[in-house]
Amino acid sequence: MLKLKNITKSFDGKTILNNLNLEVKDNSILSIVGPSGAGKTTLLRCIAGLEKVDSGTFTLNDKPFDPADESRKERVIGVVFQDFNLFPHLSVMENIALAPEMVLKQDKKTAQKNVTELLAQLGLTSLKDQYPFELSGGQKQRVAIARALAMQPKILCYDEPTSALDPSLRDTVAQVILDLKKTGITQIVITHDPDFAKKIADQLLEVKPLNN
Ligand SMILES: Nc1ncnc2c1ncn2[C@@H]1O[C@H](COP(=O)(O)OP(=O)(O)O)[C@@H](O)[C@H]1O
Ligand SMILES: [Mg+2]
Repeated sequence: MLKLKNITKSFDGKTILNNLNLEVKDNSILSIVGPSGAGKTTLLRCIAGLEKVDSGTFTLNDKPFDPADESRKERVIGVVFQDFNLFPHLSVMENIALAPEMVLKQDKKTAQKNVTELLAQLGLTSLKDQYPFELSGGQKQRVAIARALAMQPKILCYDEPTSALDPSLRDTVAQVILDLKKTGITQIVITHDPDFAKKIADQLLEVKPLNN
């Protein structure tokens, strides 16, 4: 279980998150909903350790946890960014295998074997030698998900996974997330789409812009 206690974050004197408390149970799906500017991405970046919080604590299974600590051996949080952030000059296989090789120090053969399994799981096998510019939005997103999963995170976060895609793909994305739940991973999904949230979420957190 991931717990956030009294998390506060401001930018330039403007408070974005004010004493936020949150519990995310293992193997559950939390949806964070709220209007643009409410601080959803900021919260996700704090959970992923990409922003440092001003105050408050994180615990993972009741032990103190610093998301920004890069010296941990195990990857706790993975992120699928809103615009996917794939490396344009690398193939699908290379995009996914890069971090396991560089960070987890997997040898090329092990990394490629793991990537091959992930590609199959996400229905991407036939695309392994393609480059990002050759892929549709939905395919790019699945590559971004595979790339995050290759680091074996305990918790996978998505920033607005439906926003960059054709609305007809919404159900497909929901199905990918629900299928991943069966593998035991915990997921945190930011969305401004209440129907999408209802479809996937075990728990909802509503964030509102603060007046300051
Ligand atoms: N790096 C930053 N520096 C200054 N202000 C920021 C930064 N990141 C976000 N903000 C501000 O924080 C507020 C919340 O932004 P954000 O977390 O992106 O909201 P949401 O994802 O809900 O739309 C906005 O007012 C935004 O301008
Ligand atoms: Mg955002």
